[in-house]
Amino acid sequence: MSISRRRFTSLTAAAIAAMTFQSRAIQAAARETGLKDAFKDDFLIGTAINKWTLEREDSTQRDLIAREFNSITAENCMKWMEIHPEEDRWNWGPADQFVEFGTKHGMHIVGHTLVWHSQVPRTVFQDENGNPISKERLEARMQHHIATVVDRYRGKIAIWDVVNEAIEEDEKGWRQSPWFKILGPTFMERAFQLAHEADPKAHLIYNDYNEHNPGRRNFLVERIRDYKRRGIPIHGVGFQGHIGLDYPDLREYEDSIEAIAAEGLAVHVTELEVDVLPRPSSFTGAEISAVQQYADKLNPYVDGLPKEVEQEQIDRYKRFFELLLKHREKIQRVTFWGMHDGESWKNNFPVRGRTNYPLLFDRKLNKKPVYHAVAGLGRT
Ligand code: XIL
Repeated sequence: MSISRRRFTSLTAAAIAAMTFQSRAIQAAARETGLKDAFKDDFLIGTAINKWTLEREDSTQRDLIAREFNSITAENCMKWMEIHPEEDRWNWGPADQFVEFGTKHGMHIVGHTLVWHSQVPRTVFQDENGNPISKERLEARMQHHIATVVDRYRGKIAIWDVVNEAIEEDEKGWRQSPWFKILGPTFMERAFQLAHEADPKAHLIYNDYNEHNPGRRNFLVERIRDYKRRGIPIHGVGFQGHIGLDYPDLREYEDSIEAIAAEGLAVHVTELEVDVLPRPSSFTGAEISAVQQYADKLNPYVDGLPKEVEQEQIDRYKRFFELLLKHREKIQRVTFWGMHDGESWKNNFPVRGRTNYPLLFDRKLNKKPVYHAVAGLGRT
């Protein structure tokens, strides 16, 4: 056999070996499906991403996110204060990086959020002298902000949280935010119209917490009916889903899912996690001298979550997902507010510096038993 013939033969063998290896790798990757695959016939499965996850050199978490989720929400980088810190200054870097990541992985990208009373510079509501701004000028600022942000990501962001947390609980009506106080109740419909003008194909939603609250639900349903009558473009409602082991009442939650769907709008669970820590409200009335004692009581699992509490959380997540699956036709997406316990905002809210365990992955990015319990409810 000539040298060239030998080389040819060995190259061919190497190529065959490489191909076999490749196809095994593809098969293995296909077997390694994530939450998104478990629920592929039910709803999109999302996570919130923070800028550190996107910036970090180590790609482990990003790779896991790409495998587990098919939708992403910007945890902070698209909020007014972050993306538009001063009237003439825009901070596009982190938001661009977020959108690039989602586009690269073919994900459903959620923009959060255009109009909110929180994480917005105070100066938005003030004139040059620090006095309250006029209605006309605030409306112009809102228009400029929405048009600029939505236009930049037109065609890339599928869903916008247009207005966040504008309604009070318990039949109290509109939240008395600067938006409401200065612009009046039409600020919300104006925001939806502006977002729609900037990207007519985007799916536009209203987002809030404690959506199970009947007073909040009723007020929202009234607004939706009115908007639909007058052609205001609203397509869905986000239920944040910051739930705990014993709240909210899931029957009330179900009533709200049904009420929104009955208006023809899509339901999104937008910021899900299950808090396992004691609620500070149960400790109100504490004497100052007992503050440390209460602080310890409020942060009881620094060294790990006891098995029985872990089981309670598993049961709670399962009941919650069973409810969502029962209404899968009404629910377009279920997004967790973060991926792993260590990055959850719940370590700092409503009390700073606690050790919480609200998500499906632990601090080392491992799947927790609750992950398997939830994934097991899916159909793959
Ligand atoms: C939270 C973020 O997770 C934190 O990092 C930030 O410090 C405060 O905001 N409702 C919302 C989210 O709509 O934007 C909030 O996110 C959590 C409550």
